[in-house]
Amino acid sequence: MRLLKKLVGAALVLGAAGAVAGWVLSAPVRLDTETLAQLGPGDAARGKRIFYAGGCTSCHAKPGSQGDARLQLAGGLELKTPFGTFVPPNISQDAKDGIGAWSVEDLANAMMKGVSPSGEHFYPAFPYASYARMKPADIADLHAFMKTLPAVAGKAPANSLGFPFNIRRGIGLWKRLYLSDQPVVSFPEGTPDPVMA
Ligand code: HEC
Repeated sequence: MRLLKKLVGAALVLGAAGAVAGWVLSAPVRLDTETLAQLGPGDAARGKRIFYAGGCTSCHAKPGSQGDARLQLAGGLELKTPFGTFVPPNISQDAKDGIGAWSVEDLANAMMKGVSPSGEHFYPAFPYASYARMKPADIADLHAFMKTLPAVAGKAPANSLGFPFNIRRGIGLWKRLYLSDQPVVSFPEGTPDPVMA
């Protein structure tokens, strides 16, 4: 009996230590001040290029919209995956239902660190693992361009994910393994721009 009690005690201590370690390791990490200082003023014309290169409309446009209506970034498309259904949210300029109230720093932390203004992890169905390689100035340009887009009222439905994938904090552990801002390939000065060409 004594040995059993000791074993159970040890298992509880180990379990608690594991839970604490998991909690600490999964904490959201925001951009450092040095990176934020490189954001710059933002240029909407350059940001348009980033917006289309990033394919934002393919996930965030109102489903079924055509032409200019695809700039109504109301979200709502259902992305069905083995983890459940992800629904890209409203990222229009609506201050309540979209991201109209987001600062450029908020957008940079979302795009490069997958962290929301309130400090929650985003799911990598939002491809920030790719956007993490962007230059901070590109994010400022993108933010300036998005400011020129319309505000659309109405929240998109929430994601519908099964356990344990519905626990956002767990993404912090995934990020430790897979979220990196490297490698980045630089093209020589003067290389034609594949997006604008
Ligand atoms: C492959 C689909 C996909 C693409 C492409 C995509 N997103 Fe998203 N985005 C998502 C999903 C899914 C979420 C929600 C993630 C979550 O619930 O954690 C999201 C969330 C966001 C959020 C957080 C909004 C909020 O209210 O919390 C922002 C901002 C955002 N995306 C901006 C962009 C921008 C800007 C682009 C283009 C550069 C882009 N996204 C491209 C799928 C996408």
